[in-house]
Amino acid sequence: MTSEKQICKNAIATIERSLFQVAEASGDITPLVYADYFAHCEGSEYLMLDIEDREKGRMMDEVFRLLLVQELRPEKEYLRYETKNHQGYGVELEMYEKLFNSLQNTVKRLLGSSWLPEFEEAWQFRITELLDIIKKSS
Ligand code: HEM
Repeated sequence: MTSEKQICKNAIATIERSLFQVAEASGDITPLVYADYFAHCEGSEYLMLDIEDREKGRMMDEVFRLLLVQELRPEKEYLRYETKNHQGYGVELEMYEKLFNSLQNTVKRLLGSSWLPEFEEAWQFRITELLDIIKKSS
């Protein structure tokens, strides 16, 4: 296994650990993530005004999946497809980073002193990878 693959594998395992801990402590965090997102990303609440909770939940499930998937290369086509779709919904590029930040900040806030520096590093690693693909897709 290349060292790059090993770093990625470790990062994913670390993100998984943080999400497992927060789920144990706080259950489904999806509504809290959206609340944080709408408070910090101008225009996002308006874009999602008529979107049902079920669809919002589906979207967040996909975001969790992308955070945890081992190999991002096979997801490039999917991300290109969703980025194009989302352009049509009126979603702007900087709204993605804000969504990932809201998700990370919500987990961080809920974990409090259990949030570790290695969590920060692992989250930033995967978020950077995802944003890189999304930016190239737009
Ligand atoms: C990697 C990040 C994201 C993923 C994986 C994702 C995924 C999804 C999925 C799977 C849906 C369901 C319908 C569809 O397939 O298009 C959806 C809907 C939607 N997403 Fe996202 N999303 C992301 C980021 C965002 C961001 C940053 C916004 C900004 C507000 C956003 C706004 C919306 C809206 C408004 C809809 C509903 C569209 C409609 O049904 O009219 N999404 N998203």
